[in-house]
Amino acid sequence: MKSEKILVTSALPYANGPLHLGHLAGAYIPADVYVRYQRLKGSDVLFVCGSDEHGVPITIRADREKMTPQAVVDRYHAAMKKTFERLGVKFDNYSRTSLPLHHKISQDIFLRLNEKGFINEQTVRQYYCAACRRFLPDRYIEGECPHCHSLGARGDQCEACGRWLEPEQLIQPKCKICGSTPELRDTKHWYFRLSAFQEQLEKWQASRPEWKSNVREFCSGWFREGLTDRPITRDIDWGIPVPLPDAEGKVLYVWFDAPIGYISSSVEWAQNQGTPDRWRDYWCDEKTRLVHFIGKDNIVFHAIVWPAVLMAHGEFIIPAEIPANEFLNIEGQKISTSRNWAVWADDYLEVFPPDPLRYYLQANAPENKDADFTWKDFQARYNGDLADVLGNLINRCLSFVEKNFENKVPPAGELTDADREALGAIEKAVAVIGGALDEFQVRRAVGELMDLARAGNKYFNDAAPWAAMKTDRSRAATILNTTIQLEAALSLLMEPFLPFSAEKLRKMLNIPEDYAANGWSGIAGFRLSDNHPLGKREILFSKIEDAIIEEQIAKLGK
Ligand code: MF3
Ligand code: ZN
Repeated sequence: MKSEKILVTSALPYANGPLHLGHLAGAYIPADVYVRYQRLKGSDVLFVCGSDEHGVPITIRADREKMTPQAVVDRYHAAMKKTFERLGVKFDNYSRTSLPLHHKISQDIFLRLNEKGFINEQTVRQYYCAACRRFLPDRYIEGECPHCHSLGARGDQCEACGRWLEPEQLIQPKCKICGSTPELRDTKHWYFRLSAFQEQLEKWQASRPEWKSNVREFCSGWFREGLTDRPITRDIDWGIPVPLPDAEGKVLYVWFDAPIGYISSSVEWAQNQGTPDRWRDYWCDEKTRLVHFIGKDNIVFHAIVWPAVLMAHGEFIIPAEIPANEFLNIEGQKISTSRNWAVWADDYLEVFPPDPLRYYLQANAPENKDADFTWKDFQARYNGDLADVLGNLINRCLSFVEKNFENKVPPAGELTDADREALGAIEKAVAVIGGALDEFQVRRAVGELMDLARAGNKYFNDAAPWAAMKTDRSRAATILNTTIQLEAALSLLMEPFLPFSAEKLRKMLNIPEDYAANGWSGIAGFRLSDNHPLGKREILFSKIEDAIIEEQIAKLGK
């Protein structure tokens, strides 16, 4: 079987704060599940990400914390990298955009677009603060919202009424740094000729009818309005210098350089492997499928601007799939980091292992609409599904085998219809879960995984090996054998979703390291042989008590 080549990316998170559940649910957990599945399938996957270290989100944080932007990104880059590792989100490379390598690649791409005539110079009027002696990016200007008249609206958006704004629309604009009234001044910027790509983009999207409706609808809206050229430079002193002679003090707009981070992370990966050109096997081969996992706020950049940049550049592949997820709310309210209305991944990990969270964010993934995280629901799903269904099935069967069959797989005799049906459920689950993941439907996939565990429990209850044991030991052995085969399949199918528990379960079943040798579809035929010695039994999922959950709820908004 010739393996498929897939380049998977997760949106580069801004290195301006720690990771919270909103990040994880959208662009990271689903991507990791997808990649782990593809690896089991035998696909040739490269999975890259990195920290987005430029732009106003960084400088605002630096101003607020009285730190340099470099210190801010150093701190949060290290923190996020660690958090991803603890959660089992396993990138092949986690890079960062402040690297010289990334600066160079971004500048080269800018220059190439410029040479090809896709970049224009324009003079525009922008707010300038005479006191601070600087031009003010949108988010550095505050004033009264022209729509809802609340105070403190930002130059790009009013948080109170949610409307997008231009800085000039603000009533009584003020410099956010020093409070003085800014004035409009001429400044020069470089624009990417996005308008030149409308036709090509529309054709490309028309050829991808299977895309999620949120992406397609969003783009149709933009096409209807007509694409306009976009400024790709800024007047701030943190970022990648514009590589032109008359560009003193200008940097590339963060949304120009950040997606290039996908390329530079791949280049860094190739260098670290000692095969510096290998990134080209992915980026410069039409056969590679480029898949961008993102949150819905990033759609325009990944489905319109970035593909146009790639088209303009001409040497690289363009995205094949853009699985964009909706948002995760917390206890019925929008996540707000300023109000601390968020669940921070590190806080979570202080108290719980990673898999319960992975499970909840998969089972309740914001795939087609916003989802809500509540601690009580998290507890209920964990206790009800992982502990009572999956954990219980494994524990009941393995403790029985330990006691009555010397902790070895009891030999199977002749199979009944019920046994065959139970084993048949494995084959079906392999196909259905795989099919769902191929379509990025993590929520449905993990539901099917649980259904297989549920079917296992029902089989075990109905077959009642403890009763058979009294009259017909070999019948009991067959039932236990069948149940163990189901558990072995579960341990393999679980890997993309619950990698830590899957590994534990494989150890308990003493499954050899080459378990994936026959690919994903091979799981259907995977069997442990008669008398195969089992490993040491452990509790996979112990229940979460109410008191622990109450403590977590109390932290919100504090
Ligand atoms: N940092 C951006 C955000 O958090 C995402 C950047 S995605 C990339 O919204 F493509 F630009 F890398
Ligand atoms: Zn000012």
